[in-house]
Amino acid sequence: MKTELKTIKNSREKQSSMTSVILYVSKTGNTEKVSNAIAKDLKIDAYSISNMNSQDMVGFWEKLDDVDLAFIGSGTYAFKIGTDLKHFLEQSKPPKSVKFALFGTWIGRSNSGHNMLENINEYLVGQGYEVIPDRFLCYGKMAIVKRSHPSQEDLNNAVNWAKKIAS
Ligand SMILES: Cc1cc2nc3c(=O)[nH]c(=O)nc-3n(C[C@H](O)[C@H](O)[C@H](O)COP(=O)(O)O)c2cc1C
Repeated sequence: MKTELKTIKNSREKQSSMTSVILYVSKTGNTEKVSNAIAKDLKIDAYSISNMNSQDMVGFWEKLDDVDLAFIGSGTYAFKIGTDLKHFLEQSKPPKSVKFALFGTWIGRSNSGHNMLENINEYLVGQGYEVIPDRFLCYGKMAIVKRSHPSQEDLNNAVNWAKKIAS
């Protein structure tokens, strides 16, 4: 009986102080800007997956406090997520208790940004993870296309989205 009560108490405490982290792939810096804005406002850490070697990936989750929520962000590259992202997830094997929230940047080509987020969603759900349905996508400049993005408004929108999810 005592054990049961303690378990309930612990889970309630956890909900009120959710531990969150950001993981992102950003080849040209746009998704990094969005990640940094969220990290700064929510006072959480953001990790660039592209800079990680295999050693960093294996055991990655064990080195953090128990993570409840992981924001995963990527630019859209030929309709897909950054390949590093899938490699990271395969190597690091996040605990099944981690929930994911997805965000990304794109230039608006066809439906590619949405496809990219759906792609990562399907992968994670297929692996048995919970993925929060509410996603965030904004433009990110490529050469002279969408050159003013991500704008301050984009960053504000990203922060508001992340706050809602982490609250
Ligand atoms: C190699 C490459 C492929 C891209 N493919 C697409 C695409 O299929 N659809 C799209 O909307 N944008 C595409 N873009 C634009 C990027 O998704 C966009 O600029 C994004 O903000 C880049 O994110 P990053 O700066 O974090 O790398 C591509 C950019 C690059 C460099």
